Amino acid sequence: MSASIRTLDDLLAEGVSGRRVLVRADLNVPLDKQTGAITDDGRIRAVLPTLGALTEAGAKVVVCSHLGRPKGEPDPQFSLNPVAGRLGELLGTPVHFASDTVGESAQAVVAALADGEVALLENLRFNKGETSKDDAERGAFADQLAAFGDAYVDDAFGAVHRKHASVYDVPARLPHVAGRLVLREVEVLSTLTGDPERPYVVVLGGSKVSDKLAVIEALLPTVDRLLIGGGMCFTFLKAQGHEVGTSLLEKDMVETCRNLLERADGKIMLPVDVVAADAFAPDAAHDVVPADGIPSHRVGLDIGPETVAGFAAALRGSAAGGTANARTIFWNGPMGVFEMAAFANGTRGVAEAIAESDAFSVVGGGDSAAAVRALGLDEKSFGHISTGGGASLEYLEGKTLPGIAALEN
Ligand code: 3PG
Repeated sequence: MSASIRTLDDLLAEGVSGRRVLVRADLNVPLDKQTGAITDDGRIRAVLPTLGALTEAGAKVVVCSHLGRPKGEPDPQFSLNPVAGRLGELLGTPVHFASDTVGESAQAVVAALADGEVALLENLRFNKGETSKDDAERGAFADQLAAFGDAYVDDAFGAVHRKHASVYDVPARLPHVAGRLVLREVEVLSTLTGDPERPYVVVLGGSKVSDKLAVIEALLPTVDRLLIGGGMCFTFLKAQGHEVGTSLLEKDMVETCRNLLERADGKIMLPVDVVAADAFAPDAAHDVVPADGIPSHRVGLDIGPETVAGFAAALRGSAAGGTANARTIFWNGPMGVFEMAAFANGTRGVAEAIAESDAFSVVGGGDSAAAVRALGLDEKSFGHISTGGGASLEYLEGKTLPGIAALEN
């Protein structure tokens, strides 16, 4: 992290007892569509070190976050209320929940906070100003938020790539520092953009090539191997001239993929077999077919066992293939539809190979982090599980991240 960024320890050294500290967290956790229950609390747990340090030091802690993508007005399905409950359980102290973000409820809750207590404001994105492209509209909302703090801590690594009021404009209005999570994330990811120990192997999955194009471009010159699975592999297979049935295909990216394959110097590894199903459904009939022979009526929903073995060999090294153990691994994106048991083997197999490898491994947020936990894998077998999906990718692309830039000013 840049030397010009002040940290939570600097703020604690100044003393925070009795001061109101506004903490931007990324509590954007997945919720069960039917019950609304939190299905993965990893992002809540990730912010506990910062919150714990502040409460112990006697600060009045005001936490704010977004959840989902509501459209600038209150929408009950995106309420942070369930998150307040879970946060309280994990902190071991009740969290006072404000039923609005900067209105009467928030003002009353913040005014009533005692030293060492925690409040959570309602979803930032219930307000148009949070995500507005208009500087004045964002600024007006940032003024209201900043009124709740004497200092600001950014611990929302998952949102540092967003030029939003709570991420970008509030730090311009308050003394600001980076929280423990943001520091750790940047420390780890900067080892990947710096001089990673080799071989450096990257595994990419997820549905869309278009989402990953910039990071593939940025990584190609630096990685030793790039393993591609998930829905995005079908556009690459098409670029190799294979039929992909009814699998996910971004037709307008086929030419781009062809071009990437030509420039990749053999570094890109694609599936050699896939699990093809009759339909996109958990109980659909399915079997393993060669990646160059997906029948026209079938949809590829996972990478096949031979591919898993090939990817595992690339990660762990194989004497037969003449490849060495990876020393650094970055993984982003599931290899298949892991939420359906029949199509989870690819993601599980690759995740297990990464967990077993003695390389320094980084799991890049979002779905892959959720997959690690949903598949019951031991989080400790990975070097670092990032809380940032888009944020970690944009960091690796070398982009300027508004939330980090704001902390530097
Ligand atoms: C994420 O889930 O990657 C972060 O919480 C950012 O969410 P967003 O993509 O809706 O801005």
